Amino acid sequence: MNVGRPLLAFGILVASSGALSFLHPWGNLRAVPRNDAIMGGANVPTNVRLILQNKCADCHSNNTHWPSYSRFAPGSWLMEHDVHDAREHLNFSTWSQIDADARIDLLAKIATQSRKGEMPIKQYVWIHPSARLTDDERRLLSTWARTERNRLRNETPQR
Ligand code: HEC
Repeated sequence: MNVGRPLLAFGILVASSGALSFLHPWGNLRAVPRNDAIMGGANVPTNVRLILQNKCADCHSNNTHWPSYSRFAPGSWLMEHDVHDAREHLNFSTWSQIDADARIDLLAKIATQSRKGEMPIKQYVWIHPSARLTDDERRLLSTWARTERNRLRNETPQR
């Protein structure tokens, strides 16, 4: 069999991935300033902070750890799309700048999504099996999110 063709096809694939990797349809997500504070201003006990940091912050903060394979298209686009979407919905690094009502709302969503085990998204758990929330972590996160939500509600004047 002639191996030239598959080799050529492979070469074209690698070259186009290399070229396409310079395209970032969702902007340059890697250039945002880091902010190591996880939910600045919130009451986050250490055990909760560790879960958020280890299992959520890759997408929901400006401190994304980008593995080397995340540099190459089309994988880079899948990952950048998720991170872009995730930060738009909920970003731990800019938490204190979010409107109080929106924070209250987000905490309710964190409680529900953690309890149901809907986060981290499936694709991420496939690649990072250790990021799946354990039953204890699901309980801990959802109980904490509800407590923090009540605290914030009590200190936020009703409009
Ligand atoms: C691989 C990226 C990724 C990881 C890791 C991840 N998320 Fe998400 N998250 C998303 C994306 C993308 C969305 C928006 C789309 C959706 O809801 O599926 C989202 C949405 C959410 C929302 C809904 C926000 C809203 O306004 O509707 C909550 C709450 C949330 N995530 C919490 C978490 C928590 C808690 C963790 C860690 C246990 C986590 N996420 C880990 C990608 C991620």
